[in-house]
Amino acid sequence: MSTLLLGGKDVRKLLNMTEVMEAVEQAFRYWALGKATMPAKAYLVLEHGDFRAMPAALPGCVGMKWVNVHPGNPALGLPTIMALLIYSDPATGYPLAVMDATEITAYRTGATAAIASKYLARQDARTLGIIGAGRQAHTQLAAHALVFPLRQINVFDLSPATTEKFIRSFPDYPVRGTSLEEAAASDIVCTVTPARAPFLKKKWLAPGAHINAIGADAEGKEELEPDILKEAVIVVDDLGQASAAGEVNVPLRKGIISLGNIYGTLGDIITGRKKGRQDSRTVTVFDSTGVAIEDVAVARFIYEKAKQAGGYPSLDIVEG
Ligand SMILES: NC(=O)c1ccc[n+]([C@@H]2O[C@H](COP(=O)([O-])OP(=O)(O)OC[C@H]3O[C@@H](n4cnc5c(N)ncnc54)[C@H](O)[C@@H]3O)[C@@H](O)[C@H]2O)c1
Repeated sequence: MSTLLLGGKDVRKLLNMTEVMEAVEQAFRYWALGKATMPAKAYLVLEHGDFRAMPAALPGCVGMKWVNVHPGNPALGLPTIMALLIYSDPATGYPLAVMDATEITAYRTGATAAIASKYLARQDARTLGIIGAGRQAHTQLAAHALVFPLRQINVFDLSPATTEKFIRSFPDYPVRGTSLEEAAASDIVCTVTPARAPFLKKKWLAPGAHINAIGADAEGKEELEPDILKEAVIVVDDLGQASAAGEVNVPLRKGIISLGNIYGTLGDIITGRKKGRQDSRTVTVFDSTGVAIEDVAVARFIYEKAKQAGGYPSLDIVEG
């Protein structure tokens, strides 16, 4: 036996947003039904950025992602986030594949937000606001466009050059650069920045808006004015992780909101244990921290497809 080695280009070719969305939704269902195992993400915080070790097991598959977040990297010509994933045989522990997970991270993050929007946004949502137009923003648009017939995509980034680059990447979509306020007034708003101070104000939001709060995924990060959270229906990907590191982490620590403000998990909604959107005026927030079950679910089909196609390099990493 040998270990498949899948680089970024290989993984990108094997990725498909529709399949990613199906795999991720199924992973959240398994997690909610107690059929997945996922210890808390381990954080290693250093001077210029942080690292996370993210293991998880789903029925028939197991893996671990090693991922960094270095917000200063784009100035050095490197992505903020880079990731590798080890995918193993759950029966023997044999490392079946080592794959780039940088693209997997972007795809599964976009997919998860769009799944949350499917259940929590108004079904007549036609405008998408994207705040922070970096790497993760691209898959927010790609995934949402599969769920909603978008009429307008309003994009704001502190860097006009990044906004321009984003617009150029989607020539077939009605994307325009806007002010922060205009992007915030969209039917669905995705905040995708590394901000450590709230910038999204409650007074800008449309009635019944749905917000995917993506950027806050480590202690001390936040993007939303806490007044939004005090009145919104809040759904988290994982309660423990969101309380420690998600959009709610700072307001919880400051006592501005309590755990009682959190309505449920995405898995609760997907399995029908709790209802999704119930009226047209309430603001809903999905607090996404990013969970390992998303990565392992995607790695599984990447591995299966690569194995079936053949022709990828492999290495005898483990000596028999
Ligand atoms: N929830 C998850 O699952 C998940 C997954 C991946 C990344 N993230 C987080 O998402 C964030 C973005 O990641 P990325 O890979 O897209 O980074 P990136 O560096 O590629 O892009 C971030 C963009 O945000 C812009 N920005 C910064 N502050 C802003 C502000 N106040 N208003 C508007 N724009 C602003 C920057 O100019 C940059 O273009 C990071 O905080 C990362 O940790 C979360």
